[in-house]
Amino acid sequence: MQPKLELRNVSLAFGALKVTNDVSLSLAAGARTALIGPNGAGKTTLINLISGVLRPSSGSIRIDGRDVVRFNQDRRVKEGIGRTFQINRLFRDLSVEENLRIAVIQQQGRAHQLIGRRAVDDGIQEAVIRILAQLGIADRAGTRVRHLAYGEQRLLEIAMALALQPKVLLLDEPAAGVPKGESEIIIGTIERLPKDLAVLLIEHDMDLVFRFASDIHVLASGALIASGPASEIARNERVREVYFGRGKHGQ
Ligand SMILES: Nc1ncnc2c1ncn2[C@@H]1O[C@H](COP(=O)(O)OP(=O)(O)OP(=O)(O)O)[C@@H](O)[C@H]1O
Ligand SMILES: [Mg+2]
Repeated sequence: MQPKLELRNVSLAFGALKVTNDVSLSLAAGARTALIGPNGAGKTTLINLISGVLRPSSGSIRIDGRDVVRFNQDRRVKEGIGRTFQINRLFRDLSVEENLRIAVIQQQGRAHQLIGRRAVDDGIQEAVIRILAQLGIADRAGTRVRHLAYGEQRLLEIAMALALQPKVLLLDEPAAGVPKGESEIIIGTIERLPKDLAVLLIEHDMDLVFRFASDIHVLASGALIASGPASEIARNERVREVYFGRGKHGQ
């Protein structure tokens, strides 16, 4: 079966620094894949390359077989790439529902129907309600983002990405900074994502990585040093040396 996402020999250099070095990987429909590696390994850069924030100096990026390397971010969203951001990008003075409505309108290519005017299309409201229910945050619909707990804000970021109806979802440390007590709602949500969605998760918490991922790619200094089933990666000597050696999986 054709992969949903396929990177072939993707490279990017900032001056002399090779932040992405000949990376090839693919995700099938329904993939639960983690991208791990030390700080500065180039994980966020890779997501920026896939989503179109950055352009590679060489290599191809395909969605459903179509090369999207020349497409800008909006066009890649339309092709099926959804992402969350490591840094919070929500509208803090708007409600949960209003934030979601913006994402749905963006997905439907009707950016002119923005907040302040009544959204006439019932379809928009339906989509918003469906996503709120899917993420279990319907009771927070009218709450302004600034009044949400941090974990709930991160959950809304995932909801915003889902509103774009992606084929491939890129999650950049979705539980980062979330207090332990709240992180379970994020983990639960990630575990309940639509089955056919291909998911690439960047995460430093190895408990979460091994709970979530069936496949893992390990990045170090811009290059993949290992790729494979989670059980193999856990036993991989080089990975243990470069990465796990400093964590609790490293004894
Ligand atoms: N715009 C830029 N210009 C120059 N160097 C950059 C730029 N963006 C990132 N870098 C460098 O690229 C490398 C990879 O950074 P990146 O943020 O992708 O790492 P990361 O694996 O996501 O790290 P972390 O786990 O800390 O989030 C780092 O050395 C960083 O300093
Ligand atoms: Mg990062």
